[in-house]
Amino acid sequence: METTISRRAFVASALSAAGGAIVTGCKSSESTTSNQTTSMTNSDFYNNGEFDADKAKQAYFDMMKRLGCPTLEQYKGDLLWAIDFGLGDFASAGMGGVFWANENHEKGGYLGHEIFLLPGQMIVEHAHVACSTCPPKRESWLVRHGSVYSFSVQDEPKGFPEGCVIPESQRDIATVNSAILVKEGEVDHLNKAEAKHFIMAGPEGAVVTEFATFHDNEGLRFTNPNVKF
Ligand SMILES: [Fe+2]
Repeated sequence: METTISRRAFVASALSAAGGAIVTGCKSSESTTSNQTTSMTNSDFYNNGEFDADKAKQAYFDMMKRLGCPTLEQYKGDLLWAIDFGLGDFASAGMGGVFWANENHEKGGYLGHEIFLLPGQMIVEHAHVACSTCPPKRESWLVRHGSVYSFSVQDEPKGFPEGCVIPESQRDIATVNSAILVKEGEVDHLNKAEAKHFIMAGPEGAVVTEFATFHDNEGLRFTNPNVKF
């Protein structure tokens, strides 16, 4: 069986890394994203309350330039997408992505995905459960530029690194109990099938390559009931 999924389903798979608490030193509870060269707030990404994806994409392009990440021609069309999960808090909770592949086959499927996160920006907490088309999605994340905090639920909670604070809008909703810093050139993995998780960029922002099994929106579960996807 082969399955072709919609763009939206692709976007959902991006959530592979989406995660919950964060750090910062880069981002404040007022949803301000900053590092040595930028200082952005939600007002930079909304027009009369409407999310402006073009402004979000430009912010990712600017970040790529700062991080020395090549901006491929393929990113300049519709291939690159940006979402705020319908929460109106893009500076803190949002993501950009490019899906290179999401293929399902009878005896296994695979996914390749680029994830872009502004400084201190997090993917909202979620899990991938078994559904009618595939087993629970499994994920690994390679940090190519910048750094991320990888949040998870561990049987023996490890807590969060010093200075790692989940953005205010998700702080009381996230259920993760552990986080680690993943630096450029390092890889982290989803610790357990169907476990809640997400990633959040460090103070420089992040470009992350995700390797995963096939994703279907049917198996995607967000912790925050207000997420619109
Ligand atoms: Fe995920």
